[in-house]
Amino acid sequence: MASILRKSKVAAMIRTSTLQSQIRSMSNIPENTVYGGPKPQNPNQRVTLANLRQKHKRGEPITVVTAYDYPSAVHIDMAGIDVCLVGDSASMVVHGHDTTLPITVDEMLVHCRAVARGAKRPLLVGDLPFGSYESSSDQAVNTAVRILKEGGMDAIKLEGGSPSRITAAKAIVEAGIAVMGHVGLTPQAISVLGGFRPQGRNVASAVKVVQTALALQEAGCFSVVLECVPALVAAATTSALQIPTIGIGAGPFCSGQVLVYHDLLGMLQHPHHAKVTPKFCKQYCQVGEIIDKALLDYKEEVTNGSFPGPSHTPYKISADDTNGFLSELRKLGLDKAADAAEKNADSRLPNQGNPGSE
Ligand code: KIV
Repeated sequence: MASILRKSKVAAMIRTSTLQSQIRSMSNIPENTVYGGPKPQNPNQRVTLANLRQKHKRGEPITVVTAYDYPSAVHIDMAGIDVCLVGDSASMVVHGHDTTLPITVDEMLVHCRAVARGAKRPLLVGDLPFGSYESSSDQAVNTAVRILKEGGMDAIKLEGGSPSRITAAKAIVEAGIAVMGHVGLTPQAISVLGGFRPQGRNVASAVKVVQTALALQEAGCFSVVLECVPALVAAATTSALQIPTIGIGAGPFCSGQVLVYHDLLGMLQHPHHAKVTPKFCKQYCQVGEIIDKALLDYKEEVTNGSFPGPSHTPYKISADDTNGFLSELRKLGLDKAADAAEKNADSRLPNQGNPGSE
């Protein structure tokens, strides 16, 4: 009887440990190391297109924020944001380029993978970068497939609404990939737009916004970003469409809103190197100032020797091991190293491994 019980206990232990190692290799959950890590997240919680459709039907605004790396993705996840967009704005806010044009598919994939590790709940949308989808529908489908397969995204976004773009959007949807459209100011087209200019400010341009959005809907897009258009043009577009519109600089009459992570956090604000925050962007805090202050404080404390103090020097060595270590050092002819260990343990870090203390 005892042996049966022991066997079933061992089997249960093996099952638990196998499960634990599977969870670890399946996800971003680190072992219980000195670096800690996030709490496990439930993969079944992922926001789906159906969830977005239901929200839209109920008239509840959809929240979207961009992310480019693991920490921003974790924050967005924890905040319960619906959609996390790995935008090609990474080219500007992360890589420091003046436009979104230079970023490559391979660079986008690195951002996508990092975000996918951190954001387990939001729907993940990856931008197709400039130059990766304009040549043909085949090129567009191939890039979209990479964004899902290699980047771990759930959907892609592409800009513009020219006939070839609509055909490409349709081909991607037919390949089984959800597509978010993007009209109004489409930053990848600054060459023809003549810069980062708002759109829809005359009759022809306003009508074009609505028609392009309708064509994207017809192509099978699940939503459309409206960037930098007058609020009434956004209102008309939102009303004309059955799919949700996601506004950025397009006023309140959209089905949801998107902002760039760094912009909404006031992150790139340094007194001597302030990047322009777009007029439409509300800064919900000035993280840039907090970061500047923290870095200056760190520099000051390292310089004056107050960091790391006892509370940030956690690893102890017993008195016996300390004495053994010192005598080994001396045997190795490293008397100076032994003296330094003995002296410094005593002088700066009481009770932190100095000889004679535990
Ligand atoms: O790249 C991006 O961040 C975007 C949003 C501004 C919609 O396209």
